[in-house]
Amino acid sequence: MSGKYFLATFGCQMNVYDSNLIGGMLEKKGMQATGEAGEADVLIVNTCSIRGGAEDRAYARIAAMRHYKRRNPDVRIAVIGCMAQNHGEKIPVELDHVDYVVGPDNYRELEEMIFKDRPKTPAILTEQNAFENYDGIMAKLDSAVTCHITIMRGCNKRCTYCIVPTVRGVERSREASSIVEEVERAVSEGVKEVCLLGQTVNSYRTEGDDFASLLRKLNRIDGLKRIRFTSPHPRHFDSNAIRAMAESEKVCNHVHIPVQSGSNAMLKKMRRQYTRERFLEIVRELRAEIPNVGLTTDIITGFVGESEADYLETLSLVEEVGFDSAFMFQYSPREGTPAFAEGETLTAAEKQERHERLVQLQMGITERNLDAMAGRVEEILIENRSSRDRNEWIGKTGCCKKVIVPDAPGLGKGSLVSARILTRSGLVLRGESIIA
Ligand code: 5AD
Ligand code: SF4
Repeated sequence: MSGKYFLATFGCQMNVYDSNLIGGMLEKKGMQATGEAGEADVLIVNTCSIRGGAEDRAYARIAAMRHYKRRNPDVRIAVIGCMAQNHGEKIPVELDHVDYVVGPDNYRELEEMIFKDRPKTPAILTEQNAFENYDGIMAKLDSAVTCHITIMRGCNKRCTYCIVPTVRGVERSREASSIVEEVERAVSEGVKEVCLLGQTVNSYRTEGDDFASLLRKLNRIDGLKRIRFTSPHPRHFDSNAIRAMAESEKVCNHVHIPVQSGSNAMLKKMRRQYTRERFLEIVRELRAEIPNVGLTTDIITGFVGESEADYLETLSLVEEVGFDSAFMFQYSPREGTPAFAEGETLTAAEKQERHERLVQLQMGITERNLDAMAGRVEEILIENRSSRDRNEWIGKTGCCKKVIVPDAPGLGKGSLVSARILTRSGLVLRGESIIA
């Protein structure tokens, strides 16, 4: 097969990385990427199962691909990723134009199959492999400035709402040497910033390294300017990791730390393995050790049994911490999770109402925190020209705030510049670069 492949990706950054892994494998064998589904020989949809809505969107997208197959029966369609793992053989029953269903541990086999004859009946490759970490495969780079690199896969937590441990399997970490090699290669191609990915990225551990020692190793890579990571689990945020962050100058002053709920009763029921008090202690330590640290989070409202009092605890935690932003979700029961059997205790309207109140509260805090940055001088990494005005550039501060600056001599993708923050415009900041 020397044709073209089209890849659509749903879900988190880890899925984006996996799509880049597959892209890397296919291109090494001579295939070319295309952004036009209509001209592809192989169509791949990388799916997510985190909430019901994510699955519905993936089904709709795959269903819409049927006409490509009608037009050309030789076209091959692969459904891969978390929903492929979750629904397996059910997928081609509903969507009989699908040729391959491939879980997150089976991408090497997918690559092999694509270069063989098309299967007569749909191939289902969903066997989990606790050792597969795709070490040694070079993923395609997704941007000229920043790259995302998965450093550990799977999850050993058992949060009762979450499908991820089921679909992504047990935790496994890549060798530090292989991660360093991948980052060095990205830097040699011009990348300035790396974002390390893992379901619980800070539980990274191999025989010789832990998360803190990995950060220190990456911090020594010449030419690399910034290190980010997502998402850490509060349970693994020990002082050792915080110290490594503080002492590694390339590690950005931003932490995305999912809290999920502010109520101890809910945290226990979610099996999160920390209390509200412990979470607040981590926040205090981060703020004490890392100057101007930006904090963002994930929050679920409307979990099974969430009372109004539990919900108010979440609101009060959100106020107390003052997160810079939050991903806020309404609880979505997932079949196969421990909480699923309990059903739901709130109506859709009640969940929606709680969600909206939280979003309103957080929006006010987000804006307040952005306003408070006016006057500050921040280092920003320029990522792109602004899509609205080609005479402006858009970049990010270390604490992960978007800043727009006017064009100036020497500015370009990947420039690291000092900028004075002037104002807020919606959810972005405006500033001016200070050329030394
Ligand atoms: N319902 C709603 N949100 C969920 N998340 C994970 N599982 C569910 C679920 N069943 C959210 C969590 C997690 C983020 C990636 O998605 O907040 O941190
Ligand atoms: Fe979705 Fe989770 Fe899979 Fe990422 S790991 S694609 S968030 S289900």
